[in-house]
Amino acid sequence: MQPGHIILLGAPGVGKGTQAKVVAASTGLPHISTGDMLRASVAAGTEMGKRAKAVMESGALVDDELILGIVSERLSQDDAKNGVVFDGFPRTVVQAQGLDALVVERRGVGITHIFHIVLDDEEIVTRLAGRRVCEDCGAIYHVQYQPPRVDGRCDRCGGVLRQRKDDQPEVIRHRLTVYRTETAPLVAYYRSRPGYVEVDGSGDAAAVTNRILPFLR
Ligand code: AP5
Repeated sequence: MQPGHIILLGAPGVGKGTQAKVVAASTGLPHISTGDMLRASVAAGTEMGKRAKAVMESGALVDDELILGIVSERLSQDDAKNGVVFDGFPRTVVQAQGLDALVVERRGVGITHIFHIVLDDEEIVTRLAGRRVCEDCGAIYHVQYQPPRVDGRCDRCGGVLRQRKDDQPEVIRHRLTVYRTETAPLVAYYRSRPGYVEVDGSGDAAAVTNRILPFLR
């Protein structure tokens, strides 16, 4: 596959993280989730984590400067030299412009695919309210759609499964509002670019993967 960055765009809960793991495995590119990076900083109690914690728990967005800083740092690492799979980034037009500037700095590694995953709000709320995440390895489950073999335990590593604080109903509603005002304008930003594809996010995870992978071959 030609070198390049892959963006998974879409509202909270459409399945970006679930699909990003498969796309990363299938392309060999590293999976970069700004949400996971921020949660790791919160768990480690770093300065960045302290700045981000309350913002994330409220469902608002962390400031663009901080996000562009962590992404720039991550892209400078050796494993990112052929491109990465972005999950949850960019999230604002300012971040998208920042990414374009970073891409110009790294000649030859452009944005090759933008998968915009689309799903209705009712299903999004069902998916987020039932999500459980392994606190050790980050594997994603759903109490109904993708249940673990042993209740509350990760199939892969045996870690404890937790509900994210921002997966409470009132925070989910706020995140959807923030998506509409701050992130949805990215669809207009990217729609006319080569590599932009709108993906139906309904059906099970394998069905969605089958709509994405043909574009990567
Ligand atoms: P982040 O962690 O990025 O959360 P998000 O974008 O809100 O997305 P989610 O992780 O909630 O959902 P997803 O689309 O990945 O769905 P998933 O695959 O898990 O961000 C969290 C916070 O961090 C933000 O609110 C913000 O504060 C901050 N932040 C992060 N990045 C930022 C940035 N760039 N700028 C500013 N702030 C930033 O699936 C959801 C559930 O559905 C799971 O249970 C899964 O098992 C299930 N599922 C998935 N696919 C299917 C399917 N096809 N069928 C049935 N179930 C499915």
